[in-house]
Amino acid sequence: MKFRVLASVTCLAVMLTANPVFAQSAESTKLGDEKYEPRVGQSGKDVIWVPTNDAVADAMLKAAKVKPTDLVYDLGAGDGKIAIAAAKNFGATAVGIEYNKDMAELAKRNTERAGVADKVKIINGDIFVEDFSKATVVTMYLLPDLNLKIRPTILKMAPGTRVVTNSFNMGDWEPDDTVGTGYAQGYFWVVPGNAAGKWSLKGMEGSQQPATLEITQRYQRVGGVLNIYGKSQPILGATLTGNRLKFSFTDHSNQSRIVEVTLNGNEFSGQVLENSPLYSITGTRN
Ligand SMILES: C[S@@+](CC[C@H](N)C(=O)[O-])C[C@H]1O[C@@H](n2cnc3c(N)ncnc32)[C@H](O)[C@@H]1O
Repeated sequence: MKFRVLASVTCLAVMLTANPVFAQSAESTKLGDEKYEPRVGQSGKDVIWVPTNDAVADAMLKAAKVKPTDLVYDLGAGDGKIAIAAAKNFGATAVGIEYNKDMAELAKRNTERAGVADKVKIINGDIFVEDFSKATVVTMYLLPDLNLKIRPTILKMAPGTRVVTNSFNMGDWEPDDTVGTGYAQGYFWVVPGNAAGKWSLKGMEGSQQPATLEITQRYQRVGGVLNIYGKSQPILGATLTGNRLKFSFTDHSNQSRIVEVTLNGNEFSGQVLENSPLYSITGTRN
């Protein structure tokens, strides 16, 4: 535990000095109030407290395209600033989970000061215990090993959930995008649906032309082979964004066609397009 705290302090301290854009300086932030004045770098259960820079908090929420219908969870909420920014600047409902009781109380007072207490809830709890499965957006400023520890929980969330971090990635789950520039950056992901397996397709070419699609998947990266007209062809440019699967194939007249379908468990439905929809298709996982 001692080593873990030390490692956290060292890691975030290194980040603080190496990455001045992403860390909020003590001078430029309102750190507390008359009841509780936290110190930047103070120990936390699994990671020390360093507040995200205001501009970076907004950039993270912008990258996640946060909108009023979103429910944003900040894991390790500190003084509540990301949850508050989500409500105040993007109109979202937000929840911050913070282990340190004094910090959680401060965050609650900050939601009142910011006039968003009706939109932001602060939970004094542990991110590895509290349920955040209803979030549509998850924000994190933790540590690389904590991101990896929480990753399995995130990957079980509803496909399409957006995740954005300050500074640290999620190992071999490659990000969909980055936030910021140069060495100072955050990362953005969309939780992928499950597209893997062999699918029987109906409606290709607007007929009962039998077709199968075999998809391999690693996180959001997908590839596959389409078998149609008795011939196999690799699908091209395949992307999986949440439950939206998109790829192109070559039809019987040698035209490149785009397929866009939405996964729903072991079924999918969607369309084959040229510039506009040509015909509807469905798929069933075998
Ligand atoms: C680096 S700070 C980030 C604060 C805030 N999210 C921000 O970006 O400004 C990490 C916060 O996580 C809290 N923390 C550490 N371990 C935690 C855990 N297991 N559950 C909840 N909060 C935790 C710390 O107390 C600290 O306030």
